[in-house]
Amino acid sequence: MARRRKLKDRAARHDPAYKRAKQENFAARAIYKLEEIDKRFRLIKPRARVLDLGCWPGSWMQYASAKTGPEGHVYGVDLRAVELALPGWVETVVADVNEWRPDAAIAWAGARFDVVLSDMAPQTTGDRNSDQWRSEELLLRALELASCALRPGGHFVGKVFQGGRFPALRERMRASFQEAKSYQAKNTRAGSSEQYLIGRGLRVNIAAEARRQADTKAQERAEAQERASVDGANGE
Ligand SMILES: C[S@@+](CC[C@H](N)C(=O)[O-])C[C@H]1O[C@@H](n2cnc3c(N)ncnc32)[C@H](O)[C@@H]1O
Repeated sequence: MARRRKLKDRAARHDPAYKRAKQENFAARAIYKLEEIDKRFRLIKPRARVLDLGCWPGSWMQYASAKTGPEGHVYGVDLRAVELALPGWVETVVADVNEWRPDAAIAWAGARFDVVLSDMAPQTTGDRNSDQWRSEELLLRALELASCALRPGGHFVGKVFQGGRFPALRERMRASFQEAKSYQAKNTRAGSSEQYLIGRGLRVNIAAEARRQADTKAQERAEAQERASVDGANGE
């Protein structure tokens, strides 16, 4: 029984998109979802700066780096190390987005990003509600990072397993971007609640507010450090 289920799962995983990705030397079938989204919403331009959250095994970076070309910058973040050979204008880091800050990535790219992508997904537990909740949390973190890492007018793509907070997330997207849409890619597996939220044109006031908050936090950290070193020097 378990063997039959295993074979069925394997057959579902090794679907035509999986086989096509293998033949075309892409790291994952997910590449076709980004290609579809990008063709429809025209997000990634030559020379663009792209931040890819949840980038492993690397197919979105393969697509994005081909679109940006060598004058672009693609920066990927994931819990897992990317082992794929990628062009020189791609950089990756192993980090948990909940603890990661985009300052070094922005410095590497030379300016804020034109596009932030998030294909992040939690390790699924089989409990639909809890998987959806954790996926929504990852999307919220991706949006938080996007609000400080994107340039005003920049674009966002974020994956989420559609759950109870989906309408609120869509509202949040509408407040942050001039144009916000939800989209289910054609290559989505049957029965999946996976949706992508697409935002075009980060609103200037959102970007400015995110920058103001980041600056305040950085200043508070610097002041705390200074106080700690003065206390240390006074032997307290
Ligand atoms: C569906 S995969 C991404 C596939 C990728 N877009 C590609 O095309 O190759 C989702 C990724 O999200 C990553 N992820 C999940 N939670 C994360 C977190 N807190 N910080 C960083 N990455 C995370 C996982 O490690 C996993 O590699």
